[in-house]
Amino acid sequence: MRLSQYFLPTLKENPSEAQIVSHRLMLRSGLVRQMSAGIYAWLPAGYRVLRNIERIVREEQDAAGAQEVLMPTIQSADLWRESERYDAYGPEMLRFKDRHDREMLYGPTNEEMITVIFRDGVKSYKELPKNLYHIQWKFRDEVRPRFGVMRGREFLMKDAYSFDLDKAGAIRAYNRMFVAYLRTFARMGLKAIPMRADTGPIGGDLSHEFIVLADTGESAVFCHKDLVDKDILGRTVDYGGDLQPLVDEWTSLYAATDDMHDAAAFESTVPAERRVAARGIEVGHIFYFGTKYSSKMNATVAGPNGEPVTVEMGSYGIGVSRLLGAIIEASHDAAGIIWPEAIAPFRVGLLNLKPDDGTVTKACVDIYAALQAKGTTVLYDDRDLRPGAKFADMDLVGVPWQLIVGPKGLAAGKIELKNRKTGERVELAPEAAIARLTG
Ligand SMILES: Nc1ncnc2c1ncn2[C@@H]1O[C@H](COP(=O)(O)OP(=O)(O)O)[C@@H](O)[C@H]1O
Ligand SMILES: [Mg+2]
Repeated sequence: MRLSQYFLPTLKENPSEAQIVSHRLMLRSGLVRQMSAGIYAWLPAGYRVLRNIERIVREEQDAAGAQEVLMPTIQSADLWRESERYDAYGPEMLRFKDRHDREMLYGPTNEEMITVIFRDGVKSYKELPKNLYHIQWKFRDEVRPRFGVMRGREFLMKDAYSFDLDKAGAIRAYNRMFVAYLRTFARMGLKAIPMRADTGPIGGDLSHEFIVLADTGESAVFCHKDLVDKDILGRTVDYGGDLQPLVDEWTSLYAATDDMHDAAAFESTVPAERRVAARGIEVGHIFYFGTKYSSKMNATVAGPNGEPVTVEMGSYGIGVSRLLGAIIEASHDAAGIIWPEAIAPFRVGLLNLKPDDGTVTKACVDIYAALQAKGTTVLYDDRDLRPGAKFADMDLVGVPWQLIVGPKGLAAGKIELKNRKTGERVELAPEAAIARLTG
């Protein structure tokens, strides 16, 4: 993408409405714009990141055996009367009527709807287990929308729902999602720690929140330091096998959010120098809740002897849009965002330091074409601006690799390759730089 043509409205000044760094940087680097309280429009670069996050979420859900569907944002109140949650839900639910005076709502979550879909479509235990998910916008009329996309009113969520014949099956489903979540967040460059959590209004008896440690997090959290350093990506995961030992490895170390924290247990099980008391951002939340919805909504399958069995369920959420904020909180410096490669809007930023110099521009155009031919995404700064402004913008936008092309270097056959994260710069021949980035 040529920056001269791209819609990337960066801001020089810090917007006054933004209290935390991720919100400031998302506005300044032209990723989003607020349309009304807690409701955001996604601009081209922000939308690219959002889709990259979605792609990783989707790949890991699919690998864990979940199947993607797409349910509507608008739901009928009748569905929620079946589960007796319509009156219980409160003012966070956005309710309205259609022209026929039917009560409707903008879905804050989808347990009811998926239960109806399942009930209509699955008749026998032989069709179990099933796990269905979608990535869809939710609306919750939060009292205090704040911190940009971190606590919005409209936000993008991945929500999955599992259906099993018995509790043992439901725990296996829970474990598959548990491990898929560890992998999902790790692939985004995040250290997200599963912590025992309160089951809250969804109810149930087993729940973990996946928490990214950050000073600006909304929850107080407590955990064993070893959890911060644990790595899942180096491990082989067999979703067809028994995942309990792997899950136990993570859950045997102390980790709890404020609501579930037990100070005495924390102090007796974690040595003083390994205790982490910090703040955290909830990026995912998984629940096993048994037959809470299936019994009210009569979701049964024929069991092995033909008798109806009420299915065991769980639900599994990821805050897809919140993740942008969480990742920026975890990965930025004074100059701007530092995107992990897997989700960056572009992998390479190409800086033409002298666009009116034919040789420099020819070299840039060739590099641009060569990188794109190899499938690398490039943001090419071909604008007629002084170098300082280009350096500042590219650092702000946080592209992981920068290729800096100027007349002096080029005369010596060299361009500069800069790593956004480490700041490390090396001089290379253009072909060598291309090989390095595409090898
Ligand atoms: N208002 C919001 N804005 C952005 N993301 C949200 C919001 N509320 C929830 N999420 C994300 O969706 C995930 C699943 O939501 P859930 O656990 O049902 O919500 P809550 O924790 O508010 O009860 C959360 O882990 C979080 O990452
Ligand atoms: Mg939650």
